[in-house]
Amino acid sequence: MNFTISDLRQQPVFFDAIADRIWRAWWKEHGVPAEYIAGRLQENMTPSPIPFALVAHRGDTFLGTASVVASDLEDRPQYSPWVAAVWVDPKYRMQEIGTELVGRAAGDAFALGFRRVYLCARKDRRRFYTRQGWAPIEEDVGERRLTVFIRVPDGPG
Ligand SMILES: CC(C)(COP(=O)(O)OP(=O)(O)OC[C@H]1O[C@@H](n2cnc3c(N)ncnc32)[C@H](O)[C@@H]1OP(=O)(O)O)[C@@H](O)C(=O)NCCC(=O)NCCS
Repeated sequence: MNFTISDLRQQPVFFDAIADRIWRAWWKEHGVPAEYIAGRLQENMTPSPIPFALVAHRGDTFLGTASVVASDLEDRPQYSPWVAAVWVDPKYRMQEIGTELVGRAAGDAFALGFRRVYLCARKDRRRFYTRQGWAPIEEDVGERRLTVFIRVPDGPG
């Protein structure tokens, strides 16, 4: 499927869709107000290099999102930055949009000068990330027993 990945700052029309997906996927069940998540997402709209959010879209149709943030796991403040909030709408899954979003998020972080990026995920996502060159460095971290992955740039350097 043809699609484009853009920085949300260049395609702010997708702001509400991303805030809605992040809220529903990770925060709603914990009673966090949607407005709070929209406020946090606003941090991605400033000119500072991170945090930033990416949107996968085909024309004006929202497909998915991923972000790069300074901190994503309070148990591991020593690691930064993180690829986070990876989401593809259910009807567009299994078309490598998720793979492209994660790859682009890491690539953009490397282009900003970061030499390592981190990511945390449940055990059942392990294959999705190791297939893309992410290496697990810690298991069962924190209450949610997440796996922490690291990725470094391809090739020498
Ligand atoms: C995880 C998620 C982002 C993946 O998005 P996606 O666009 O479906 O990702 P891809 O298509 O790149 O790959 C997904 C799977 O489909 C497989 N796949 C991709 N294209 C395929 C194809 N043409 N034929 C068969 N399988 C294919 C991949 O191997 C992968 O399988 P795996 O995860 O078991 O290794 C999506 O399922 C999602 O949003 N889930 C809910 C939120 C979530 O869990 N986010 C991650 C938090 S860590």
